Amino acid sequence: MIRINENYAKLQASYLFSEIARRVKAYQEAHPDKRVIRLGIGDVTEPLPAACVEAMHKAVDEMTTRSSFRGYGPEQGYDFLREAIAANDFRARGADIAADEIFVSDGAKCDTANIQELFADKLTIAVPDPVYPVYVDTNVMAGRTGKNAKGRYKGLVYLDGTAENGFVPPVPSVPVDVIYLCFPNNPTGATATRAQLQAWVDYARANKAIILFDAAYEAFIRDPALPHSIYEMDGAREAAIEFRSFSKTAGFTGTRCAYTVVPKTLMGYTKKGEAMALHAMWNRRHTTKFNGVSYPVQRAAEAVYSAEGKAQTRALTDAYLQNAALIRETLAGLGYSVTGGDNSPYIWVNVGKDSWKFFDRLLKRAQVVTTPGAGFGKCGQGYIRISAFNSRENVEEAMKRIRKVLK
Ligand code: MLT
Repeated sequence: MIRINENYAKLQASYLFSEIARRVKAYQEAHPDKRVIRLGIGDVTEPLPAACVEAMHKAVDEMTTRSSFRGYGPEQGYDFLREAIAANDFRARGADIAADEIFVSDGAKCDTANIQELFADKLTIAVPDPVYPVYVDTNVMAGRTGKNAKGRYKGLVYLDGTAENGFVPPVPSVPVDVIYLCFPNNPTGATATRAQLQAWVDYARANKAIILFDAAYEAFIRDPALPHSIYEMDGAREAAIEFRSFSKTAGFTGTRCAYTVVPKTLMGYTKKGEAMALHAMWNRRHTTKFNGVSYPVQRAAEAVYSAEGKAQTRALTDAYLQNAALIRETLAGLGYSVTGGDNSPYIWVNVGKDSWKFFDRLLKRAQVVTTPGAGFGKCGQGYIRISAFNSRENVEEAMKRIRKVLK
């Protein structure tokens, strides 16, 4: 008899963004004449930077002759890309990360989900609320939680992000083993200061805990005082794994390329208390279960670090940030309290009402798709998230429609 993983039965019926897509599809089918503008899922709309396209074309051409053809590459990623990442994303910011501590992959979503394979079944997991649903749902699937009761899974430690703490939860008063953090934050757009991140690193070291730091949105940071990487903090090499992605930085959501940093000095422990290097374990997992990102895509990612690539990706993120500023101004102008959107592509709006009802109202009356805050957790109830990922023209039109409906 095929026994199933009954943990799946504890999950909400569908993944947040699938549920939104379902509602939008149903609306569109019923109203084919209406043009819907999508500011829901954070999916990029603007083309790949020219430097990336050129590098990808060149790499595809290399595949056409035997002398330059490449088959399987190293599972961890080609050295040319790992070296460029280590030099530009870390050493240039004073963070001590070596190329061989970087694992290139096809997405930060998969990596943040898969990393928990390295950990024991019975652990105390802390998640922020509101939270990117992947961190929670994958722990539910792995059986690390109890049942859902009133929107929260038993066994998880929820770190409340509220207007009072600026959506940056403080370290918990109880010891936990694994902590998910994401800054700039998805969904709230909030950012963490050096002092706040340092406090988390100190907490993790004191408790022999690990921080899983999702920095997928770091390219949107403009405030020079804000840290881009957890490894800018003292002691973080002993406390954290960091996840990064080219998706939002350089428009790779469809192309797929990301990476995970596992420092060689980061330890986990056996039941008996023996230290084991998580780098070696992740390397074992990665080489066993993953065969690498395609060569043309890795060449395109490498081009992000060329002089042209840097200028073009900056222009791309600048354009989305200009959209974010317009969204912020519009909603603030309508009297709503807003967070994010200045060092982040997401704007978190306190709508003071049921999130899903507000989502439906904007969909049906303005034909604008947002994301209901309740989909990110209990603390998200009463909020919506608006994404700045769209063309300027569409964002302007969406704001015009929203102004009309909400004023
Ligand atoms: C989001 O909208 O939260 C993100 O696009 C989801 C993701 O990156 O998987």
